[in-house]
Amino acid sequence: MRVVVTGGCGFIGSHQVAALIEAGHEACVVDDLSRARPDTLGRLAELAGRSLPFHQVDVARSDELAEVLVGFGADAVIHFAGYKSVPESVSEPIAYYRNNLGGLVGVVDACRRAGVAKLVFSSSGSVYGETDRLPITEDHPHRPTNPYSTTKSMGERILADVCAADEGWAITALRYFNPAGAHPTGLLGEDPIGPPQNLLPALTRAATTATPSATVYGDDFATPDGSGVRDYVHVMDVALTHLRALERREPGDGFLALNIGRGVGVSVFEMIDAVERASGRAFAVEVRPRRPGDVSALYGDTTAAEAQLGPIDYRTLDEICADAWRWESTPHPTSDAA
Ligand code: WQD
Repeated sequence: MRVVVTGGCGFIGSHQVAALIEAGHEACVVDDLSRARPDTLGRLAELAGRSLPFHQVDVARSDELAEVLVGFGADAVIHFAGYKSVPESVSEPIAYYRNNLGGLVGVVDACRRAGVAKLVFSSSGSVYGETDRLPITEDHPHRPTNPYSTTKSMGERILADVCAADEGWAITALRYFNPAGAHPTGLLGEDPIGPPQNLLPALTRAATTATPSATVYGDDFATPDGSGVRDYVHVMDVALTHLRALERREPGDGFLALNIGRGVGVSVFEMIDAVERASGRAFAVEVRPRRPGDVSALYGDTTAAEAQLGPIDYRTLDEICADAWRWESTPHPTSDAA
C-alpha cells in the first residue's frame, strides 16, 4: 500500500513510518514541523535505506494536502498530526481545538478530494475520562476531562458523521492509552521539544543526569499505591495495530473505534521501578499535587481490537523501558541541542 502519514516526524508517526517500511509498504511523510524536528527524516531514511517523500504541510490546508495525496498516489492516510499534552491543553484550549479539529477536518476534506477512502485516526483512551469500570470497553460513554481528550472525542464524532453521510469510507479510530518506548534500533524515540511532560521520557531523561529525580503528581488517587495508573503500550505495537487496520478494513466498512493498549494498569511508582531496572540508576522521588485534568486510572479492554485486528503479542513493560532507555542513552542531537 501507499500510505501518507500526517505527523510523520512525531513520536508515534515516525514509528509508524518505520513499521510501514519494514512491512514492505511505501510511506510519504507529512509534518508541519511545529512540534517535531526535521532530523527525524534522516533517521527514517537510515532505517529505510532510502530517503522518503516529505512535505511540510499544515494538514488544515486541505487543498495543499490533497495535492500531496494525489501526487503520491495514496491508497490510505494515517492521521497523527496534532497536539497531545493534557496539561498544555488545559492552559491553551483554543490552540488545541483549532489545531486538532481544524487539522482533522482538513485531512477528511483532502481525502475526499483525492479519492482516498481508507483513513486511520489517532484517537485516545483519554476520551473515557473517569471511568465507571476497568478495564474499559469501547461502549463506555465519553467523559473527556480536558480539552485534549475532548478534541479526540469530538474528532471521532466528526468521523462517524462523515461515514454516516457517505458509505464509501473505511475510517478506524484507534484509542491508544499510553504509547511508550522506542524503536529497538535506538534510531527513533520520544523526543519532545523542550522538557518532556509525559512520564516515561521524563524518567529516562532524568536517568541520564548525575542525580536522577522523579516527580509523582499525586499519590492520593484511588489506586493500589495512590499514584496514577495508565496502560503503557509499546509504540511499535501501536504502529502494528494501524497496519492491521489498513490491511483488514476496506472502503464501505464504515466507522469503527477500538482500544489500543496492553490492557494492563501500571502505576507511576511501578514505572519508576521499571526505569530503574532498565537504566541501572536509582531515583530520588518527590510527591507533588495532582496535575489539573489527570484521571486516577485508565486502562483498556482490548478484546474488540484483537477480534477485529487479530492477536498481538504485546511487548512487556520491561521491553518498553529497555527500548526507551536505549533511545535516551544513545548519542543523538536532542531537541534542546537543536
Ligand atoms: C501519566 C501518569 C501523571 C509525569 C497521555 C498522553 C496523551 C494521551 C493520553 C494518547 C499520570 C503521571 C507524569 C511526571 C507523573 N495519549 N506523571 N510525573 O497524562 O496519561 O497522557 O495519555 O492519546 O497524549 O500524554 O500521560 O505520561 O503525562 O502521565 O507522576 O513527571 O504519570 O500524573 O498519572 P497522560 P503522562
